Amino acid sequence: MLKTDLPQVLAIEQQLFADPWQAGMFTEEIDKHEAWVAINELNQIVGYLTGWLVADDFSLNNIAVDKSFQRKKIATKLLKEIIKKLRTRKCKNIFLVVRESNLAAIRLYEKFQFVIIGKKKEYYQKPVEDALVMKLEIEEK
Ligand SMILES: CC(C)(COP(=O)(O)OP(=O)(O)OC[C@H]1O[C@@H](n2cnc3c(N)ncnc32)[C@H](O)[C@@H]1OP(=O)(O)O)[C@@H](O)C(=O)NCCC(=O)NCCS
Repeated sequence: MLKTDLPQVLAIEQQLFADPWQAGMFTEEIDKHEAWVAINELNQIVGYLTGWLVADDFSLNNIAVDKSFQRKKIATKLLKEIIKKLRTRKCKNIFLVVRESNLAAIRLYEKFQFVIIGKKKEYYQKPVEDALVMKLEIEEK
């Protein structure tokens, strides 16, 4: 993700989330952490993923796919790519939080064999909802 991608990224973010990230949050991910976009054959941004790698642990902070391009395995490709990159950087675990009602995302994570390791009470606003905490061990044995 580049800063010049932000108009397209923010448009997707606003389309999908009731409490969307603002530009500054993406800028911080671009400057200090990991931020990737998925681009289609027309050079349009159709999805993105961001997170923080701290020591052995990657915190997946955001993953989203434009509504018109969902169910085409774009999130799957984004996750596969980041897992490949993280393995080369000796990352051992990926953590994420997800709204308890977000079945699409939970199904996606379960396909990657993320497991639920906890719950954060009333973690989300707009609407208030609990978060599931999920973890995937990616260390190659
Ligand atoms: C969750 C999200 C990123 C998935 O993106 P996507 O590119 O459509 O996902 P994929 O096509 O790679 O789907 C892979 C698998 O995830 C599951 N899945 C994805 N969307 C689903 C849905 N709407 N309902 C049920 N399962 C779903 C399915 O198992 C799917 O495999 P299948 O299509 O063979 O059945 C997308 O729905 C999205 O952007 N949602 C809004 C933002 C969001 O909630 N982000 C996660 C925050 S924690």
